Amino acid sequence: MSSWRGLIDSSYRRWLPVSDTTPAVTLHEGATPLLRSEHLSALTDCDVWLKVEGANPTGSFKDRGMTIAVSTAAAAGVRAVLCASTGNTSASAAAYAARAGLAAVVLVPRGRIALGKLAQAIRYGARIVEIGGTFDDCLRVARELAAHHPAALVNSVGNELRLAGQRTVSYEIVDALGRAPDIHCLPVGNGGNITATWGGYRTYAREGLASTLPRIWGFQAAGAAPLVHGVPVADPTTEATAIRVGNPATWDGAIAARDESGGMIGAVTDEEIFDAYRAVARRDGVFAEPASAAGIAGLLREHATGRLAAGQTVVITLSGNGLKDTEASLRDGYQPTEASAATADVARTLGWDS
Ligand code: F0G
Repeated sequence: MSSWRGLIDSSYRRWLPVSDTTPAVTLHEGATPLLRSEHLSALTDCDVWLKVEGANPTGSFKDRGMTIAVSTAAAAGVRAVLCASTGNTSASAAAYAARAGLAAVVLVPRGRIALGKLAQAIRYGARIVEIGGTFDDCLRVARELAAHHPAALVNSVGNELRLAGQRTVSYEIVDALGRAPDIHCLPVGNGGNITATWGGYRTYAREGLASTLPRIWGFQAAGAAPLVHGVPVADPTTEATAIRVGNPATWDGAIAARDESGGMIGAVTDEEIFDAYRAVARRDGVFAEPASAAGIAGLLREHATGRLAAGQTVVITLSGNGLKDTEASLRDGYQPTEASAATADVARTLGWDS
């Protein structure tokens, strides 16, 4: 029986911005599975691994940063935390606030967040304000509110605490593989996670714990790809709601991760995202939310266009759990098969009666 007690009380603590006396507000986040994808490995002639971040306590990678942000806020005597979110940050902030006995206020774009994420924030007891605007509007309002009211902003904007926590994903990957991968693929929305993932690899290299660095390949949805075009997008569109972001707050960090690693930030269509979303569930047994599949979609795009050399070790972040967006799954070609409660009728329906 392992005694994993979350990131703050792990051996990674030395790289986290917490003092010896900071009490850990934790749901035992981190230590997520790194699964080899036989399907993607065979398809690409590479060694492809899936980092299943949907296995975190609230179902996304956001918990890695939130444990640090909320522990620090609680230690500072703050009474409330505040965030803007496309859904996952709000679920995570609400959960960690509940655990710490703090109030949580979350601002989300009305009608544009997956219902599972809303259901989480409701149940954890957050005050939810549905804003008539985009995620980018929510973030602007959250920043303005935090400047004038006694609530700790727990978005990753300029929030080194969140990014430091999110860097741990790379520590876990190097520890599991025994080396850094050659390529790390991941979805990009507000730009925090690509920045943190690259930062984590750099920390390990600097500490002498990895002798190489990966190239970072980030992918945005084609209708919400400001980092690809080099200009903000006023009205971002994609069914992958988690990454429907038009003006990423951590813009410079994302570009630095791309350029310093010799990587890329590309755009993938919703069709490619949903193809990957279906395939990773069907072929690898991992139910990830649609936005999560952008990294797979991007890898397959690069493979199809001949830009992925064979024989490389590739890690793909699957950033959130598929159960957060059950509507996406049910909308996607589900045809119920019905039968009466008689076994013979079920067998007949299945074509097993001959
Ligand atoms: N994948 C998922 C499932 C996400 O929820 C997000 C971001 C990303 C990828 C992109 O990460 O923003 O650091 O580039 N979700 C934020 C939120 C915007 O509010 O939950 P990023």
